[in-house]
Amino acid sequence: MSALEKAFTSKPGKAIAAKAGLKEPPRLRRGRTWPEGAIVLAQIGDGTLARRTLSLLGRSFESPVIDDGGDSAPGYGSRIGALVVDATGLTRIAQLEELRAVLRPAVRGIERAGRIVVIAHPSAGDWEQRTVARALDGINRTVGKELRGGATATLLYVEPDASPGDLVSTLGFVLQGRSAFVDGQAWTIAAADQPAEGLSDRPLDGRVVVVTGAARGIGAAIATTLARDGARIVAVDIPPAGQALAEVANRVGGTAVQLDITAPDAGATIAAHVARSGLPLYAVVHNAGITRDKMLANTDADRWASVIDVNLSAQMRINEVLLDPATEGGLAEGGRLVGIASTSGLAGNKGQTNYAASKAGVAGLVAAMAPDVASRGITVNAVAPGFIETEMTGRIPFVQREIFRRSNSLSQGGRPEDVAETIGYLLDPRSQGLTGQVIRVCGQNHVGA
Ligand SMILES: NC(=O)c1ccc[n+]([C@@H]2O[C@H](COP(=O)([O-])OP(=O)(O)OC[C@H]3O[C@@H](n4cnc5c(N)ncnc54)[C@H](O)[C@@H]3O)[C@@H](O)[C@H]2O)c1
Repeated sequence: MSALEKAFTSKPGKAIAAKAGLKEPPRLRRGRTWPEGAIVLAQIGDGTLARRTLSLLGRSFESPVIDDGGDSAPGYGSRIGALVVDATGLTRIAQLEELRAVLRPAVRGIERAGRIVVIAHPSAGDWEQRTVARALDGINRTVGKELRGGATATLLYVEPDASPGDLVSTLGFVLQGRSAFVDGQAWTIAAADQPAEGLSDRPLDGRVVVVTGAARGIGAAIATTLARDGARIVAVDIPPAGQALAEVANRVGGTAVQLDITAPDAGATIAAHVARSGLPLYAVVHNAGITRDKMLANTDADRWASVIDVNLSAQMRINEVLLDPATEGGLAEGGRLVGIASTSGLAGNKGQTNYAASKAGVAGLVAAMAPDVASRGITVNAVAPGFIETEMTGRIPFVQREIFRRSNSLSQGGRPEDVAETIGYLLDPRSQGLTGQVIRVCGQNHVGA
């Protein structure tokens, strides 16, 4: 049971929530689950990408049959599980009407925790083409805010030369419950050298993945989820967290390294540990992070330095060592790097200048690194969690916490596993066409979303 569910089932929690007129938030669908109702596929133009990708996923789909049509309360007849719109043929502003016509009934007709996914080409071409590509972003963000019952909206920009095999891990992630807390987001998928042939339940089988800050919270969930996906976890955390770290490592069948990531030799220590295993290093998830909140007027040099060092500089130093081809136990070709940003960093948050600097910095770091390591098949991305139910956020006073956790389109805090699932998607070898980007796992946080 999540902290939120506990809050609602505890007597004082129930009383306060009821008094404040707060409704119980919708239950989200999680894990490798598919929508229950039909997947409806709508076309704008004659693109075949979505159709072929759904076939690759082994999902059957229907064409939209909109009863009553027009402007008189149209619907899809029965509740649908997902609407996938192939808008790769969208080039003219007038065609946005076709999108409205298929989206409108879906907003009411979608099941609990259903999905609306629009697939389009990124901004390119003449003025009008570039304009409509951008218009889709506004539509997606708004649909995300209007959907009810835990349903989400996603916009996928797919490069014209990308194939269904390049899109398969992404569309699978978005339709499945793994993307429960990703809402109102848009990202871009490019063509990869070796397009995938389908989804796997154990995409990380036998691959070594380092997770920093793994002793608790989101890091422990990342270790658990990636181990479920087959990864051999190297769990890293500071020595005082040694016991909790060992428990996590044992639970997931991995190994533990007690290490302060700000140590000058942190990268070398990680590499030496991996080298002893005799297996290549596939991925590093830079999850360890701290907050030292104060209004800027009260932020001294120590508060500033510690947050920047743990959340940003340490990550860059470790990456440099692990990317050096001379490092034994360094990152293999085709490897993955993932940083953890934060919606606070992207949107700015009172009392968190140091934290925001570090987390916006992570977004800058992945964008800067991505092109430089692309020739080695390495992808570098970040996830930006919003309000996630952890020990850290559990310490916020109830009323304030309730405001934070409800300030998003899904009216609840996310779970650590929601962040972990998104990282699992990025680590999937099939997610090769995605680099230098940030995916928010924030339920479409209303702050700067
Ligand atoms: N919880 C949220 O709502 C939220 C929101 C946005 C971003 N994040 C980010 O997600 C990450 C995990 O957050 P969490 O809520 O699980 O935090 P947490 O405080 O529960 O866990 C962080 C872990 O990192 C470890 N750590 C800290 N400094 C370290 C160091 N120098 N070397 C090695 N390990 C170190 C800690 O010991 C701890 O186990 C952080 O980067 C955080 O900034 C969290």
